Amino acid sequence: MNTLRLLYLSLWAGITWAASFHEPYRPQFHFSPTKNWMNDPNGLLYHDGTYHLFFQHNPYGIQDGNISWGHATSHDLMHWEHQPIALLARGYPQNVTEMIFTGSAVADTNNTSGLGVDGKIPLIAIYTSAYQYAQDLPSGKSVKANQQSQSLAYSLDDGKTWSYYDALNPIIETPAAPYEDQWQNFRDPFAFWHDETQKWILVTALSDIHKLMIWTSDNLIDWTVASEFGPVNAVGGVWECPNLFPLPFKADKTGSKWVLVVGLNPGGPPGTVGSGTQYFIGDFNGTAFVPDADSAYPGNETANWMDWGPDWYAATAWNGLPEDDHVQLGWMNNWQYGSKIPTNPWRGAMAFPRHLSLKQDGEKAILLQWPHQNITELRGKERFRRSWSSLRNGVQDLGPQERLLDIELAFADQGKTTSGTSEAGIIVRATSDLKTQTRIGYDFDKKLMFVDRTKSGITDIDKTFPTIYHAPLTPDEHGIIKLRILLDWAGVEVFGGEGESTLTAQIFPFANATHVQVFSKDGSTDDVSLKISELTSIWS
Ligand SMILES: *[C@@H]1O[C@H](CO)[C@@H](O)[C@H](O)[C@H]1NC(C)=O
Ligand SMILES: *[C@@H]1O[C@H](CO)[C@@H](O)[C@H](O)[C@H]1NC(C)=O
Ligand SMILES: *[C@@H]1O[C@H](CO)[C@@H](O)[C@H](O)[C@H]1NC(C)=O
Ligand SMILES: *[C@@H]1O[C@H](CO)[C@@H](O)[C@H](O)[C@H]1NC(C)=O
Ligand SMILES: *[C@@H]1O[C@H](CO)[C@@H](O)[C@H](O)[C@H]1NC(C)=O
Ligand SMILES: *[C@@H]1O[C@H](CO)[C@@H](O)[C@H](O)[C@H]1NC(C)=O
Ligand SMILES: *[C@@H]1O[C@H](CO)[C@@H](O)[C@H](O)[C@H]1NC(C)=O
Ligand SMILES: *[C@@H]1O[C@H](CO)[C@@H](O)[C@H](O)[C@H]1NC(C)=O
Repeated sequence: MNTLRLLYLSLWAGITWAASFHEPYRPQFHFSPTKNWMNDPNGLLYHDGTYHLFFQHNPYGIQDGNISWGHATSHDLMHWEHQPIALLARGYPQNVTEMIFTGSAVADTNNTSGLGVDGKIPLIAIYTSAYQYAQDLPSGKSVKANQQSQSLAYSLDDGKTWSYYDALNPIIETPAAPYEDQWQNFRDPFAFWHDETQKWILVTALSDIHKLMIWTSDNLIDWTVASEFGPVNAVGGVWECPNLFPLPFKADKTGSKWVLVVGLNPGGPPGTVGSGTQYFIGDFNGTAFVPDADSAYPGNETANWMDWGPDWYAATAWNGLPEDDHVQLGWMNNWQYGSKIPTNPWRGAMAFPRHLSLKQDGEKAILLQWPHQNITELRGKERFRRSWSSLRNGVQDLGPQERLLDIELAFADQGKTTSGTSEAGIIVRATSDLKTQTRIGYDFDKKLMFVDRTKSGITDIDKTFPTIYHAPLTPDEHGIIKLRILLDWAGVEVFGGEGESTLTAQIFPFANATHVQVFSKDGSTDDVSLKISELTSIWS
């Protein structure tokens, strides 16, 4: 190939690559792969100034399958650079014998694994091997068809390239006694360093029996069971994708509380169908996680939901960040219809990175989630700022707006007035005739915030898609309801109050639906303020 032709081809590839991030429904400030299928975030690691994002990925097509770890990197958690596939399914493309399911990554700064070479810090990924066939492995171990085991891979070039640790894999073949029979659904290892006990900790799920197993290790290779957790609270589906981390909490004598996050599929929050994420707040001493009495409920009727919408799942934590800079990333999709969303040539996006903190309410710790502060880097023009001492009954059209917005809406709780006002809020991605609309607001009587996507555009991908989703939200101490809304080309994320309640939903609106409207239903709403800022694309 001559140089000119090569130059021409790479220019052409560059142009199509850039252009390809403007397809209909391509998230503009949420991460998505260039092409093909993506599900869970994996191996989130901040190392040496770089945020690594690995993810469940099919290198071949737009459906779940051939699962490998895709890779992207960032320096600010906002703008991402796509990287070559990090961990390719074994045997791909001829005959996939082992898929690389969800897991985590750590930097082994003290070379506890002994896998470092020439002073190079090894990055260690621990993931689930999903074996397609009964087979004898290079380590001399034998596995059954459909067995799930935990394996290790390492990188000696800061995460660019990875080696499978074939000499010993899988490092954990089956669950410890008495749960050996759970070898088919044993997955999603989350590893982290526990400074107090100077040990590595690993949390794995025994999905079918709603249990987590907590392991400890000195070297990331040999693991010993320390404790188990569950079943408790929501058990309406398999347990998956656990992660465990401390957050600052002054009221506790250790200055921290621990948060345990568990994905469920199906069995998500009330009113949703499919995937959901619950959490527990409690203490962890290096061996056992003990939930606070007000975080674990007798029976299983109640749960703490991290997000009350249908499209926030498999969330996990960034390793390598300080305790007060805790960031979580969720998959903005749902197994109920994830394979049917109308996007091409990729399928699946990540939710916006969330900063997590704990608020003190007496002795109780309340989990707060908020869009990562670096969202300010994406701020474009302020489009609209207005307040109404009283917003009249009905809908007011604010005209067509940009399609990437950061919206801050606040209004007084109308719960105790005699005006009869039932709801207030904002409508986005609407046609002027309101035939297409996504309605986001607050129900004063039930004290619930909601997202109504029944008329949001393309809704027929699944019978459960056109639904109104609800999340509990109490007014603040001044009687004010606050909603922060991030609007992308294919979804909304709503943060209620200070972030004590969140609701994420994908939407697939028609191109002509660009109007924004405010509403007050069955009466007027007092002290309304609205600020709308444009957001800019992370791909431009
Ligand atoms: C997995 O990859 C193989 C080989 O490239 C391909 O034939 C197959 O269709 C792929 N499976 C899925 C579900 O994409
Ligand atoms: C925000 O982005 C800047 C680079 O623009 C980066 O230096 C900084 O670390 C980011 N902040 C956080 C908290 O990650
Ligand atoms: C794929 O590999 C497995 C395990 O070695 C083997 O049992 C199976 O026959 C192979 N399938 C094909 C189509 O080669
Ligand atoms: C590394 O070793 C130092 C000194 O023993 C210890 O303080 C630190 O916690 C260790 N960190 C990790 C990640 O192993
Ligand atoms: C890490 O440990 C291995 C095995 O003991 C040793 O060969 C290597 O030199 C050490 N590496 C570092 C600090 O790179
Ligand atoms: C409670 O447990 C029952 C029996 O295991 C299960 O059918 C139901 O879905 C669970 N409820 C929740 C909210 O997880
Ligand atoms: C950690 O807490 C568990 C549960 O309370 C307890 O059984 C265990 O002994 C504690 N371990 C240590 C090292 O204190
Ligand atoms: C908006 O677009 C949709 C789909 O293309 C179409 O059915 C509808 O009539 C349009 N509505 C308006 C008000 O233009």
